[in-house]
Amino acid sequence: MRLKYLPLDSRLYRYLCQQRTGARDPVLQALQRETAALGRQVSKMQISPDQGSLLTLLVAALEVRAALEVGTFTGYSSICIARGLRPGGRLLCLDQSPEWTQVARQYWARAGVANRIELRLGPAIPALQKLGRGARFDFAFIDAQKTEYDTYYELVLPHVRRNGVMVFDNMLWGGRLGRGPLRDPAGRAIDRLNRKLSRDPRVQSVLVSVADGLQVCRKK
Ligand SMILES: C[S@@+](CC[C@H](N)C(=O)[O-])C[C@H]1O[C@@H](n2cnc3c(N)ncnc32)[C@H](O)[C@@H]1O
Repeated sequence: MRLKYLPLDSRLYRYLCQQRTGARDPVLQALQRETAALGRQVSKMQISPDQGSLLTLLVAALEVRAALEVGTFTGYSSICIARGLRPGGRLLCLDQSPEWTQVARQYWARAGVANRIELRLGPAIPALQKLGRGARFDFAFIDAQKTEYDTYYELVLPHVRRNGVMVFDNMLWGGRLGRGPLRDPAGRAIDRLNRKLSRDPRVQSVLVSVADGLQVCRKK
């Protein structure tokens, strides 16, 4: 296999983050600062700005009316998704943390997207099991408990329309994949799901190296 990739360093990463639409968005920048104040261990859960821009672009390009997010935290990715929606479009957010999603609610209001978003608080799996048979999504973003990703996938996929897209975050798992067996259950779950998605006849998938890796899957 021909190896063609570009290793990033901080200089190049800063450059690429600056060269995108909305790079200096004041609401998202304020949300980054407020989330950073929660401490490194917590704030590292937030998606990266370039991932956020990619989510907005995908949602807009797919002309999404109905989107789902599993794992909302303080709201960065949900704002990015909500901003890409068609007029009248809706985003359903699932998260079990009242504390972190309270921050998200404040920033939805500041970003002017609160009226497009419904938050359901609680564990994601029962919430997904309760989705009505008729629930249909054009787009889904998965970013909650890593060991549960495959269950989210199986519960969400039947609700995704044909040619709809599911995106999974952290699918490069900090670069620890591809070296042999992993010890941690979350890494093993991510590795298993990457392998499953690449062979799953129900979807077309590609693992994109942006931040900690996004799996982008189109439902056939
Ligand atoms: C990585 S963070 C999401 C980051 C977010 N997408 C962003 O851009 O800021 C993961 C979130 O998933 C939530 N979460 C973790 N396990 C969950 C579960 N089993 N059910 C529902 N939410 C869960 C956590 O409360 C946390 O807010």
